[in-house]
Amino acid sequence: MFAFNFNNTTMHIFNGKEALIDFLKSIKSTNSTTGFVPTMGALHQGHLSLMQQSLAENDNTVVSIFVNPTQFNNPEDLSKYPRTLESDIAKISGLSSKIILYAPSTEDVYEGKILSQEFDFDGLENQMEGKFRPGHFNGVGTIVKRLFEIVSPTNAYFGEKDFQQLQIVKKMVEKNNLDVTVKGCAIFRETNGLAMSSRNERLSEQKRAEAAIIYKTLNGAKEKFKTNSAVAVTQWVEKTLKETTSFDLEYFQIADETALLPCLRKDKTKKYRAFIAVLADNIRLIDTISLN
Ligand code: PAF
Repeated sequence: MFAFNFNNTTMHIFNGKEALIDFLKSIKSTNSTTGFVPTMGALHQGHLSLMQQSLAENDNTVVSIFVNPTQFNNPEDLSKYPRTLESDIAKISGLSSKIILYAPSTEDVYEGKILSQEFDFDGLENQMEGKFRPGHFNGVGTIVKRLFEIVSPTNAYFGEKDFQQLQIVKKMVEKNNLDVTVKGCAIFRETNGLAMSSRNERLSEQKRAEAAIIYKTLNGAKEKFKTNSAVAVTQWVEKTLKETTSFDLEYFQIADETALLPCLRKDKTKKYRAFIAVLADNIRLIDTISLN
């Protein structure tokens, strides 16, 4: 463990799980609550808002920063993922010196075996991100379960931008009977509407400006879905993006929020969402919007 001094306040930072577990034991009491915000670093306002919510709702807040190798199906995406630990620490301690940071090495987490566990998420893993990123959700399930075991949180906070991940984590918690409440938090957007993401840092200024079209198109899809079928809306989105951007559309899917199955025929009793993934200069950007 080391203590980071910032503006005369001291923040607790752990690189090893044993020391973190011991420290958490020493500060937890019978009825105290622990909020947990897992991240892969390159922190932005969206992450900070999750931390703020955790601070407001819990006695203790733990944040993890770990770029998890097992959830990357593309080695280039893993090697280029931004790693900005020093500035991340400054951002966290600027928010609150009460936050406890766990920033482990791969060895500390995986103990020599960098492998994913195989999960059955009742089919949630076969849609969208799961189709385009084979093995991704086994990697997410593996790391989130591992981190939950280490931190033993009462509440865990995840952004809704990764809505499919949020549903997968809820399913993993349910299937493994874990005693943690998983909370989804609203998407934070840049002023042009682009959903905040650590990957945005890799975009050129031009592509970042162009990426405003993603949220604009999602809003257009929401409007059209009021009177059109999911198929017609999908065709409109595909055409719009082809005609107006240089981005490659990986997928656009309208699905129900629970099973994440494609909407073939509208059912008034279901809540629907549109999901999109595009490649901008080979950088994957995803976004989602609730439709009804
Ligand atoms: O959303 C993320 O940043 C990651 O998938 C998570 C949940 C921290 C697991 O590595």
